[in-house]
Amino acid sequence: MNECKQLAIPQFGEPSVLAMQTVEIPQPSANQVLVKVAYAGVNPIDAKTRAGLGWAAQQNQDKLPWVPGYDISGEVVARGTEVTSVSPGDLVSGFVGFPLQGGGYSEFILVDAGALSRVEPDNVSLIEAAALPLAGQTAWQALDKAKVSDGDQVLILAGAGGVGHIAIQLAVARGASVLASCSADNVDFVSKLGAIALDYRLAPLAEQTGKVDVLIDLMGGDTGIAALDCVREGGRVVTVPTITAEAVCERARELGLEAEGMLVTPSVEQNDAMMAMLEVGTLQLYIAAQYGLSDGAEAHRQIESGHTRGKVVLAVDI
Ligand SMILES: NC(=O)c1ccc[n+]([C@@H]2O[C@H](COP(=O)([O-])OP(=O)(O)OC[C@H]3O[C@@H](n4cnc5c(N)ncnc54)[C@H](OP(=O)(O)O)[C@@H]3O)[C@@H](O)[C@H]2O)c1
Repeated sequence: MNECKQLAIPQFGEPSVLAMQTVEIPQPSANQVLVKVAYAGVNPIDAKTRAGLGWAAQQNQDKLPWVPGYDISGEVVARGTEVTSVSPGDLVSGFVGFPLQGGGYSEFILVDAGALSRVEPDNVSLIEAAALPLAGQTAWQALDKAKVSDGDQVLILAGAGGVGHIAIQLAVARGASVLASCSADNVDFVSKLGAIALDYRLAPLAEQTGKVDVLIDLMGGDTGIAALDCVREGGRVVTVPTITAEAVCERARELGLEAEGMLVTPSVEQNDAMMAMLEVGTLQLYIAAQYGLSDGAEAHRQIESGHTRGKVVLAVDI
């Protein structure tokens, strides 16, 4: 059998446009490996691109059908002539094809060998390994950009989401004291991760807390702008949703704050460091739901609800 199934975007639109397609299994070039995908992580950017929004959609509009998916875990089944770091049979994971190529929603994917982390299944499950990369590296890099360190008081918006629930734990590990916004349903969840939970429906956040040193804004838009009132003069803001970053940064600077947007960059080193934290239990991932590859539309509907707790993954071939 030399064919594989993929879930593709044949045209931009609602989740129902997602469609299965069959393609030939590709062969690795010299520095690539062929991975048989076990799980593929689902992220908000997948749904935004499917809807035709954002840069990845713009760049790929003439290349449809396009296969989304930047987070994968699975087994190496073939490798190029130059690859020595991994061998067939090894279990791996990675943040791949970002931002233009995607390709994770597929039974097989070609990946540069240098983009992969090794997975030791006794310590970290393949499902966690696929849930971690994009969200984990976004959390890590947002905290780096905001220079979060010991003693900082940090407010994280959307603390219960994919990025937020990891960011809370990483910020706590850096010695920060963390507040995080969420709905009443997630107050216990967020508290157990080590943050003081602020129910955003109770009252404006600025009425629920004193001034913080750092705002990690995972909501953007009006919610991000409103939360600027929680930051002390001279404090730091990193706003993560790209579409509203300029507006949030502009308002933040008017208020005398240091503010930046960001675009996550794949880092195997950071992924390995977080895998090590998963192994010893200093980081925990919450998997809200898993769907079969052909049920990817349901996974997108879940992500688009805006109220996913933790992560959603596709079980591709397990
Ligand atoms: N720039 C980049 O490189 C980059 C990288 C990754 C992600 N992003 C963007 O960052 C954002 C967060 O990503 P994600 O993967 O964490 O999203 P996500 O998992 O879909 O976030 C869902 C969470 O948002 C929370 N939420 C909804 N409304 C809220 C509100 N008004 N206040 C506080 N929390 C609220 C929900 O909690 P409740 O159910 O409790 O409301 C839910 O847990 C997305 O816009 C994503 O596209 C950007």
